Amino acid sequence: MSQFIVSQINQLQGEIVVPGDKSISHRSAIFSGLAKGRSHIKNFLPSEDCVNTLQAMIALGAKIEIIEELAGFGPTEFYLEGRDGELQPSCGPIDCGNAGTGMRLLAGLLAGQNFLSMLVGDESLSSRPMDRVIIPLSQMGAEFKSLGEKPGCAPLEITGGKLQAIEYTMPMASAQVKSAILLAGLKAQGTTVIHEPAPCRDHTERMLGAYGVDIKVEGRTMSLEGGQSLKAAEIQVPADVSSAAFWLVAASAMPGAEILLKNIGLNPTRDAVVKVLKRMGADIQILNQRQLGDEPVGDLLVKGSELGRLEVLEEEVPNLIDEVPILAVAGALSQGGFEIRKAKELRVKETDRIDTVVKNLRKMGAQVEEFEDGMIVQGNATLQGAELESYGDHRIAMAFAIAGLFAQGQTVINNVDCVKTSYPTFEQTLQQFIQA
Ligand code: S3P
Repeated sequence: MSQFIVSQINQLQGEIVVPGDKSISHRSAIFSGLAKGRSHIKNFLPSEDCVNTLQAMIALGAKIEIIEELAGFGPTEFYLEGRDGELQPSCGPIDCGNAGTGMRLLAGLLAGQNFLSMLVGDESLSSRPMDRVIIPLSQMGAEFKSLGEKPGCAPLEITGGKLQAIEYTMPMASAQVKSAILLAGLKAQGTTVIHEPAPCRDHTERMLGAYGVDIKVEGRTMSLEGGQSLKAAEIQVPADVSSAAFWLVAASAMPGAEILLKNIGLNPTRDAVVKVLKRMGADIQILNQRQLGDEPVGDLLVKGSELGRLEVLEEEVPNLIDEVPILAVAGALSQGGFEIRKAKELRVKETDRIDTVVKNLRKMGAQVEEFEDGMIVQGNATLQGAELESYGDHRIAMAFAIAGLFAQGQTVINNVDCVKTSYPTFEQTLQQFIQA
C-alpha cells in the first residue's frame, strides 16, 4: 500500500512548481473535443482525473496529437481535433475514475448527443450524488438510468437526444451542476437560464467565451442560446490555486519560511483561500498579476508568520470548498483556531470531508468539535505524529502530509495513490523538503 512517511521540518525555502488547474483542464478537454477545429492546450494537468476526461473525449471521437507529457502520468501539452458538435458513441463505458467534475460535465455533454452512453466511476464516485445533474438534464429531455447500489448514483446510463432549454434555479452552489446544464444548453432548443444560489467557480462561463460561445452572465444568472457551436481555442492552463494551497499553508505557518509559487490562478471565484489566509495574518504577496487568456494569474511570495483565528463566512464557502481540509490544518497550527459552518457540501466530496478531517485532526491530538454542517478546530495545537488514513481522498492525504511537517515524531498517511488524481508531483516536492 502506498504511504507518505513525513517527519517534522523547520525550513521551507525555494520555488515550487505547481501543476495545472484541475477544473480548467477538465473543461479544456471537453470543450476542445466538442469544438470545430484543432485546439492547442498548454499546461494541462496530467492527473488521473483529467486524463480520464481527456480519454473520454478521445473515446467520443476527438483526435489528440501529444506535444509533451509528464512521464508516467499523461499529456501536458497537446492539440485536440474536435468533433464540431457531433460526437461519436464510445465503444464501451466511459470511466470517470474518481472525478465528480468529469462525470457531471460529461453527463451534460452526453445528454445532447443522439446515442446511448454509460458513465462509470470508482467506489467513491459511485456513491456521490448524481441526481443533482440527473434532475435538470432529465427536465431538458435526456433519459437517465442510475444503476448504482445507492439511488441516484453511478453507473449512469444516458440516452441523449433532442433537448429543450430550461430555466433552472440550482438548489446548491455547484459549478459542476451549472456546467453540466450549460453544456446541455448548447444543444437545446431555446435559451437555457441558470440561477446560482451563491457565486461558484466561473471557468465554464469564461472558457465558453474563449471558444466563441455567446454566454450572458448577469449577477448570479447565466444564459445561453442553444444551437451555438464552439470554435477551436488556444488554452494556457494556470497553476492550480487549490494545489498551491497546501504550500501556502505550510509556508505561512512555518517561522522563517519563504517560498515562491508562480502563475497561480487567481480567479475571483477561486482565490478565497489566499484572502482568508491573509485575514489570519499570513504574509502572502501577490506579484506580477496579469491575465493568462481569460483567467487572472499571479506569483505568490509566501513568508512564515503568526496565524490568527479563521472564521469562514457563509458566502466564502463555495469559493474555498476544496481547501477546507488544509485550512482546518492551518487552524490547528494557528493561535486562534478555525471555524466553518453552513458547509454540508463537504460531506459529499471524494470523502465526507467533515468526518475525515475531524478524525485525522483528533488522531494528531487536536481538539475538534464536529457539526452536521462544519467544524470548530481549536488553535495552538501541539500536533503529534500518528498513523492516518487518506480514506482514498487526495486532499485529505495532502492536507495531513502538510500537518505531518509540523507534528512531533513521525506521521504515516496510508493509501496515498489517490494524490495522483489531482497533483501528480506532490510527493516529489514533499520529499524534497523533508530531505532538505
Ligand atoms: C469543481 C466544482 C466543485 C469543486 C470540484 C471542482 C468544478 O464541486 O469542489 O473540486 O471543476 O466545477 P461542486 O460543483 O460539487 O461544488
